[in-house]
Amino acid sequence: MRVIKGKDYKDMSRKAANIISAEIITKPDCVLGLATGSSPIGIYENLVHWYEQDDLDFSQVTSVNLDEYKGLPKENDQSYDYFMHEYLFNKVNIKPENINIPNGMEEDSEKECARYNQVLEDLGGVDLQLLGIGHNGHIGFNEPGEAFEKETHCVDLTESTINANKRFFEKEEDVPRQAYTMGIKSIMKAKKILLIISGKEKAGIVKEAFFGPVTPKVPASILQLHNDVILVADADALSEVE
Ligand code: F6R
Repeated sequence: MRVIKGKDYKDMSRKAANIISAEIITKPDCVLGLATGSSPIGIYENLVHWYEQDDLDFSQVTSVNLDEYKGLPKENDQSYDYFMHEYLFNKVNIKPENINIPNGMEEDSEKECARYNQVLEDLGGVDLQLLGIGHNGHIGFNEPGEAFEKETHCVDLTESTINANKRFFEKEEDVPRQAYTMGIKSIMKAKKILLIISGKEKAGIVKEAFFGPVTPKVPASILQLHNDVILVADADALSEVE
């Protein structure tokens, strides 16, 4: 794992955006695995800015998102579909038919997971997968457990994740309890992984996940076994490992 240190969130975002930008420039028809949450917002702002300056072209890019809440329609401003359109897709020239996100409104979990696994297989692999990390070490919505879940699956979100997400909803009851997520095997298949981490409150999990044992109790720890991971983190997030 290569570690690149940014001074702060802004610096981390620009450095990570540069890595994605280089991927798009060197492979215009690349498959980008994308994430939501607060960590990547700064990256998307940079990418939009460079697109507006004519430095980036998304016309041949395909995107595949990690996860989506089950039960939230696309129009709900807390759905990940809405988030991605708001921060990136509506602002660049990616083709709508090249955008892939799990369908949170499909009630039949088995059917939706099989469909998404097929999408991933048909794409022939993700070139660059962007990841954030949860306070409990989750990646995508792969929560701590007794075993690594392999492919796309429907998860019951943990209390810790529901708590972390409730700031985005009016009432705690509105926070979805389930989500569709790419599995660990699907994530590990990506050719390159770009992990971004910011803030003091993530310093503990950085130490546990990347300087401790590989265990499904800390799902992100599996990334220690991938041979092309770039961690771009700010000084606060790295404060316990230096
Ligand atoms: C979102 C996702 C999640 C987040 C993680 C960190 O698509 O996959 O695993 O990356 O929950 O979220 P933030 O960045 O909001 O701290």
